[in-house]
Amino acid sequence: MSAAAPDWQALRQEAVRAAQLAYAPYSGLQVGVAGLVDDGRLVTGCNVENASYGLGLCAECTMAGQLRLSGGGRLVAVACRSGAGDLLMPCGRCRQILFELGGASCLVDTPSGVLPMSQVLPDAFGPADLPG
Ligand code: THU
Repeated sequence: MSAAAPDWQALRQEAVRAAQLAYAPYSGLQVGVAGLVDDGRLVTGCNVENASYGLGLCAECTMAGQLRLSGGGRLVAVACRSGAGDLLMPCGRCRQILFELGGASCLVDTPSGVLPMSQVLPDAFGPADLPG
């Protein structure tokens, strides 16, 4: 299924709104992410930290759960923002998670403009590399 062209302003606004719901008592950095799905749905996530620091969940991880729980599909565009509205780039692990769920063509809001995952995570390892 193909979605309409991403409304980047709406995606960024939803990312900020999600960030403001974060649980980030340790780092103090609220992170939110919003993703457009190929059926037109919008899914969001926020970081959820833990007193055992290494167990904290990035915003992209909780968005991955929301994607599945709300009906699945493929991510076509993603924006990540702080609670203050600053653009944030997904960390390396989260780029891999976005690649899994959106593939090389998924668009990402970056400081250099909107770029495809193929540039945000070049030569990514992915499902196509597995046998069978
Ligand atoms: N964080 C995310 O939620 N996503 C990222 O891609 C990078 C980092 C969170 C993890 C932690 O709760 C906080 O930002 C500070 O590192």
